[in-house]
Amino acid sequence: MSEKPLVLVTGGTGFLAIWVIVHLYKKDYRVRTTVRSLSRADGIKAQLREAGIEESKISSLEVYEADLLKDGGWTEAMKGVMFVQHVASPFPSSLPKHENDLIIPARDGTLRVLRAARDAKSVHRVVVTSSFAAIAYGHDNEYPELYKYTEKEWSNLESKDTSAYPKSKTLAEQAAWNFIEKEGGSLELTVINPVGIFGPVLGKDVGTSARAVTELLEGSVPGIPQLSFQVVDVRDCADLHLRAMKNPNAKGERFIGVGEGTIWMADIAKLLRKNLGDKAQKVPKFVFPNSFVRILSLFMPVVRLIVKELGKEKLASNAKAKEILGWQWQYNNEEAIMALANSLIKLGAVKI
Ligand SMILES: NC(=O)c1ccc[n+]([C@@H]2O[C@H](COP(=O)([O-])OP(=O)(O)OC[C@H]3O[C@@H](n4cnc5c(N)ncnc54)[C@H](OP(=O)(O)O)[C@@H]3O)[C@@H](O)[C@H]2O)c1
Repeated sequence: MSEKPLVLVTGGTGFLAIWVIVHLYKKDYRVRTTVRSLSRADGIKAQLREAGIEESKISSLEVYEADLLKDGGWTEAMKGVMFVQHVASPFPSSLPKHENDLIIPARDGTLRVLRAARDAKSVHRVVVTSSFAAIAYGHDNEYPELYKYTEKEWSNLESKDTSAYPKSKTLAEQAAWNFIEKEGGSLELTVINPVGIFGPVLGKDVGTSARAVTELLEGSVPGIPQLSFQVVDVRDCADLHLRAMKNPNAKGERFIGVGEGTIWMADIAKLLRKNLGDKAQKVPKFVFPNSFVRILSLFMPVVRLIVKELGKEKLASNAKAKEILGWQWQYNNEEAIMALANSLIKLGAVKI
């Protein structure tokens, strides 16, 4: 039997990237990943072990050093690769000092990855992880209530409501499409636009995705803001990335990754209490009035990150991913949220 193709996954230390690697190994692909520091390689391997990947595959993982902010390392990382999953991008849990702290690595990093992929000649397609944040921000009152955003929409960069993270994802994705059109040669591009990613973590070093559930479990805030999330489980999102890599009809398309749909933060708190008993004793019950959170945001920069989203419900359609890729989410909101909570508790990543 011939060897399966080599796939490069950027940012193997990340929450989504590690699950993309797990899914690639489950389909017997060969995998290479990039990290900012090779000292992270053992941590990635430990996470693959936690996911039940065989030792022979774990020891075959190739780990290369490359930073989105630097040219070095990308040419070497692309050698012999057939597909690239470009997942790495800064996803911070607070507003950066300057928006360029996010925009430059996101946009220039994506261009570095695409240029190296084109020049390698062996690469057939790059799948870029963009975000629903590149679709649904800065459109106040432009669409009717309960409108389901589709892949045709783009976030409005002119709006003052579009903060640094949605800007970084929008500019990075636009730069990617522009590159492919003007300089990409025969390189193919497909983009995934996930909503909020939940589901199990595989290591203690958890990122922004786990933050809402972590803060509820630890009771680090005395009340719950009126925030809603569109949810996709990380395992379903990884599956979507693999389908986008292989399906010939995915060329030149973007796909929203959304599972069951909306959940309010207060309902996440209820799910935690219902399923976790004593372990959910710190989960707050009180729901903050929006006016209170707005006042709080004047004094607490981190609260400014959410203040524009209070009381809003943004819906997303997964019809295109279903129709073109035959994708169907497997984990509903409760399963995705409880898998995240249970994994955080099991790995000792929360103080409950
Ligand atoms: N999680 C969500 O809810 C969500 C929703 C929609 C889209 N996304 C997108 O999905 C992707 C993965 O997100 P995630 O949740 O897995 O976030 P994450 O766990 O924070 O992972 C981010 C990854 O990007 C890497 N990275 C950041 N800056 C870098 C740089 N300058 N050079 C090289 N690597 C760099 C990080 O490396 P270090 O470990 O070295 O920091 C890490 O591997 C991102 O593109 C994000 O925008 C996430």
